[in-house]
Amino acid sequence: MKKKFKFKKSVKVIFFLLILLVICYFSYNYLLKDEKINNDVSNNEQESDELTNKLSSLGFSSSDIVVLKENLSDNELNLIDEYNENIVKFVSNSYFEIDNLERYIVYMEENDYSVDEVITYVNVGIDKPFYTDIKTISDPNNLLVLCNKFNALPSDYEPDDLTEVGSSGIYMRKEAAENMYQMVLAAQSDGLKINLVSGYRSYDYQVDLYARHVRERGKAEADRVSARAGHSEHQTGLAMDLSNDWSLEKYFEDTELFKWLSENDYKYGFILRYPKDKEYITGYDYEPWHYRYVGVEVATVIHNENITYEEYVMKYLSN
Ligand code: DAL
Ligand code: ZN
Repeated sequence: MKKKFKFKKSVKVIFFLLILLVICYFSYNYLLKDEKINNDVSNNEQESDELTNKLSSLGFSSSDIVVLKENLSDNELNLIDEYNENIVKFVSNSYFEIDNLERYIVYMEENDYSVDEVITYVNVGIDKPFYTDIKTISDPNNLLVLCNKFNALPSDYEPDDLTEVGSSGIYMRKEAAENMYQMVLAAQSDGLKINLVSGYRSYDYQVDLYARHVRERGKAEADRVSARAGHSEHQTGLAMDLSNDWSLEKYFEDTELFKWLSENDYKYGFILRYPKDKEYITGYDYEPWHYRYVGVEVATVIHNENITYEEYVMKYLSN
């Protein structure tokens, strides 16, 4: 009886000790975790203080620093190593890219542009001379491909869905060709004749065409009106030169057909690719005849906002 009692008591003691051990274990871990959180918080606070001190020693006021911290991550803040009064204005623009900061500062100093214009133009790349810093287009089949003086198509690129527009003997990529044909029919039913002058052009064809322009007017003028091979939208199969007669001349803008196109092109997914007075962005003199297929949705935005395709890509397609 006595032995049994003793046995029961020692089981109770062991059980009690076990519970105590478990409680100690969990409390210890909880305290460790708490201490780690506290350490993390104080590390963050310390880093944040260091950043504030650094920005302040560069010359930013406390209200500047609030704006900078609101708009930039710590990593981005760490990349600021000089004071400039415009930096606070730049970071508030939603298209600001920290990698372009130095270029924004220089471009702002060299030009009479607003902050928004500087951000747009630098992001588009036009703070650099045309045909510098050229990237090869990695997805030339993308219907929204940006082909310009900074972005070149591979020399062997040829679309694999070239389709004749009606029975014109002129080709575009299938979706563009179908929409172009619909636009031709729509103009026709409004009593206007669209003549298709030039659609898809191969790399080799563009080599000869550009060389002819250089021979006829010299390189500088040729570059204003003709793309160097690899840089022509005609090689994408998404561009078409249109005319009321068969010429491609500025007077086209005074025709009924041009007026009709200005009001209706976007409904078929087309945009006027080289608008008037936008040579500094597009790189080309005004071409009232050159239309580019981008699809109805994108064309509608460009039509409503009255922007170039370069600006559209910067605003809506860049990360
Ligand atoms: N005329 C346009 C710019 C081209 O050559 O593609
Ligand atoms: Zn053209």
